[in-house]
Amino acid sequence: HLRAGRSRIIALLVLDMANPFFADVASGAERAAREEGLGVMLCNSAQSPAEEADYLSLFAEQRVRGVLVTPADTSGRNLADFRRHDIPYVVVDRVLASADEGCSVSVDDITGGSLAARHLLAQGHRELVYVSGPMHLSQCRDRHTGALAALREAGLPQDALRRIEGERLDVAAGRDAGARLLGMAPRPTAVFCANDLLALGVLQALFAAGVSVPGDIALVGYDDIEFAAAAAVPLTSVRQPAFRMGRTAADLLIEETGEAAAEHRHQRIVLQPELVVRDSSIS
Ligand code: RIB
Repeated sequence: HLRAGRSRIIALLVLDMANPFFADVASGAERAAREEGLGVMLCNSAQSPAEEADYLSLFAEQRVRGVLVTPADTSGRNLADFRRHDIPYVVVDRVLASADEGCSVSVDDITGGSLAARHLLAQGHRELVYVSGPMHLSQCRDRHTGALAALREAGLPQDALRRIEGERLDVAAGRDAGARLLGMAPRPTAVFCANDLLALGVLQALFAAGVSVPGDIALVGYDDIEFAAAAAVPLTSVRQPAFRMGRTAADLLIEETGEAAAEHRHQRIVLQPELVVRDSSIS
């Protein structure tokens, strides 16, 4: 059942195609699409709102069935353009600012940030460093908010959480953050990273400097990508149900763009993260 003239392709527009997290999201979306005889076209915004906007004309021209988008643009302008061009979409991995922005499937990143920080506090650490990506991304902000909430719960001051903001959410930014951690006084004993790629970069930089993990510094990542468990020191990480996110978002988009979809609903589906404890954080 296709809406008049819509192709059998769903576009998945991700923030960073090189991040294995999105491969897991894509796998889930592809499973759901295949069951409906649809295919998935993988597109990359490379964390650039301008590059994300460039895809609009392609999606309009190709009359894609719809778009699953993990937004690089946080102003809402690109999503407004999708709506203006009648391109159906479901936002993945971000809670939308307002209901009229459409449907979304995300993970409760505030709880996720709390899980990471509570775990480090339970190991006896009394201050943490949060290595973030760009804070205009809600997933980075919410993880920070959750970590601060855990400090409050433990009766610790908010400045017991120092923050290093990485330019991008990737391994290179993690290596830069690792170098900055080594220059901090007092030297941190516990670090929570906004995603596993940052954490793997931090691990690399600390190793290169002869700093041991978790001996000198306890480390926690986020996403629990395949490489987290396979890292030189198996990485403790807050697991996002990435496959389920992709599958749920594709099911929602297919439902919204099927014959039966009367009016455009504004469903928000929020999934829960879980902490997977491994060697990198047990002091
Ligand atoms: O792409 C950046 C990060 O945002 C991913 O690692 C995942 O955590 C997503 O929420």
